Amino acid sequence: MTTTPTVLSTALDPTSDPALRPLPSQVASLLDEVGAPLRLVAHLRAVHDVAARLMDWLGPHCPALTVDREAVLFGAATHDIGKTLHPEELSGPGSRHEEAGRALLLARGVGPASARFAGTHASWDAPDTAVEDLLVSLADKVWKNKRVADLEDLVVAELSRAGGRPVWQEFLDLDAFLTDLGEEAPLRLAWQSAHPVHG
Ligand SMILES: [Fe+2]
Repeated sequence: MTTTPTVLSTALDPTSDPALRPLPSQVASLLDEVGAPLRLVAHLRAVHDVAARLMDWLGPHCPALTVDREAVLFGAATHDIGKTLHPEELSGPGSRHEEAGRALLLARGVGPASARFAGTHASWDAPDTAVEDLLVSLADKVWKNKRVADLEDLVVAELSRAGGRPVWQEFLDLDAFLTDLGEEAPLRLAWQSAHPVHG
């Protein structure tokens, strides 16, 4: 017997090929309450998983870098929530979901520091972008093995500044890690695409 996937099952049930950690339960409940499309839930789960892998690598790699891990994970898990209100941006371009997402989270009682990622995930090149925002934006690219040199350079600069290692060394280390991470991108893409945009 096959059961129809729901927001909660898409967010939380064990997966294989790719193995994705579940979304935080409070995020899963929020996505359920707002009626998020399953394609969106799948996307948020994939990006959250990649953000968690990135944070697991970053901690031991650069202990001197101060990063709010929980903020990054929450940001990755909710960054596109505004696409619930603008589902056309799930399958086409558009930025209306950004401010809509921030407003939706604020209206649901999420604090501004956590809600901000919904609004900032596409504007990582703004001056003084915090490292947490860079990392959410990076996870939102590398989950599908999209490599954005300018964004990666900003992360490399943060690593070098915090840990005192040369930029070229940080560049090589991050590149090797992201190349590795990219190997499962086809599985993540296939898993996400298997979830309907409308539903
Ligand atoms: Fe995204």
